Amino acid sequence: MAYVPFARKYRPKKFSQVVGQEAPVRILKNAVRSGKVAHAYLFAGPRGVGKTTLARILAKALNCPNAKEGEPCGECEVCREVDRGVFPDLVELDAASNRGIDDVRALKEAVQYKPIKGKHKVYIIDEAHMLTKEAFNALLKTLEEPPPSTVFVLCTTEYDKIPPTILSRCQRILFSRVPHEKIVDYLKDICKKEGLKCEEEALKLIARASEGCMRDAASLLDQAGVYGEGKVDRKVVEDFLGLLGENTVKEFLRMLLESRVDDAIRFLRSLSEKGYNLTKFWEMLEDAVSKAILVKGLKNPEGVINDYAQYEEFKKYPLEALLYTETIINRGKTDARTREPLRAYELAVLKSLIVKDILPVSQLKKALPSKEEQRSEERKPFEKLLESVKDPLVRRILEDAKKEEKNGKLVLRVDRELYERYKKELESLKAQHPFVEFELQEVKKKESDPSNKRLF
Ligand SMILES: Nc1ncnc2c1ncn2[C@@H]1O[C@H](COP(=O)(O)OP(=O)(O)OP(=O)(O)O)[C@@H](O)[C@H]1O
Ligand SMILES: [Mg+2]
Ligand SMILES: [Zn+2]
Repeated sequence: MAYVPFARKYRPKKFSQVVGQEAPVRILKNAVRSGKVAHAYLFAGPRGVGKTTLARILAKALNCPNAKEGEPCGECEVCREVDRGVFPDLVELDAASNRGIDDVRALKEAVQYKPIKGKHKVYIIDEAHMLTKEAFNALLKTLEEPPPSTVFVLCTTEYDKIPPTILSRCQRILFSRVPHEKIVDYLKDICKKEGLKCEEEALKLIARASEGCMRDAASLLDQAGVYGEGKVDRKVVEDFLGLLGENTVKEFLRMLLESRVDDAIRFLRSLSEKGYNLTKFWEMLEDAVSKAILVKGLKNPEGVINDYAQYEEFKKYPLEALLYTETIINRGKTDARTREPLRAYELAVLKSLIVKDILPVSQLKKALPSKEEQRSEERKPFEKLLESVKDPLVRRILEDAKKEEKNGKLVLRVDRELYERYKKELESLKAQHPFVEFELQEVKKKESDPSNKRLF
């Protein structure tokens, strides 16, 4: 059988299995039991704490023929179909990828039909805050007067982004982070079922690292189990979390900013081989680069990010390089949704090859030749000409000549007499350097010319 990650394998199937979230569970169970289910709910709270899970359990509870006291049986066809994601009266829409007005229109169409198998149709709109303004507007009417026996559940991690018009039409249910002790108990239970040897200390470390997010806790345990080959003790978890720690992420960011592509790719591959969740790592990287940009760009980052001192070292990189790196990291994240994450991230790393050559605009100006240098650039043809002259006398003639630029040629004014005397050399110079032209002038005060005296 294919390997099912812990976070999916141990998704609670009934209200009683949900850890923490006592208030949401009580509200929903009571609503089902008493037949007072709202038309629309808004589940708001941090990621990975059970919003989608509870929305699915609600769909079961409303349709399970054997439900007792609002709790679904978990065994019947309805319950099993919901678990497998094939129950026809449960529709899940991911607003992150279906956020436009057409998607909502399609949804409104579908809403008009009666339930096929069960008593209630349930629509889960995940990441609801991602819907466009137009999509929200199109949804308003439906939320206000939904067809009977239809329940909407909007889930969001960003409560603030839901328009008030939508909020006022939904019953709001707030989810909280799961307390550490409860996470530890939950992980212990998984270890027992999986036959993993674990130390309480190790589980505490995982609980702390997951910051109340149950999905992260389950997936960290899963990965630590692979890393420790079936043993989850303190040492294993410390090693494992160390690899995923902030310092490692910062070092990786440095690799990108310094275009150390070989190091970065080697590191990514080793993470992947050790069974790491690369997506989680990339999330941390994204977080780190935005902090670095804020520290670089803000006058007073103290008030904006609390661990700003940890990111001060990134001030030494040009803002342009930081911004470009942020763009490639972000692009890597999007690409990882449609292709194998390791490949997507490696491509992002390759794009960092040019980062080390990015100069700040101020320095770029300096790197361009100044007016002074441009002028000296113009003098170059003469220097070139002079370089090819060995005879010191001829050199002297050239140096003393008045120079002028005419129609892209370097014109040297030479006394006719001198010209005649050194004709052979000068003509051969002209043949070598087509940009040179001689203009002859009559000598007037030959005797009083000091340069002539010195020369002959
Ligand atoms: N309260 C919980 N009790 C037990 N397991 C949980 C709980 N919350 C989350 N999980 C675990 O995390 C996984 C993800 O949970 P779920 O999809 O419900 O999170 P979510 O709140 O919808 O997160 P997101 O905002 O990222 O969509 C579940 O499959 C389950 O393994
Ligand atoms: Mg969810
Ligand atoms: Zn059932």
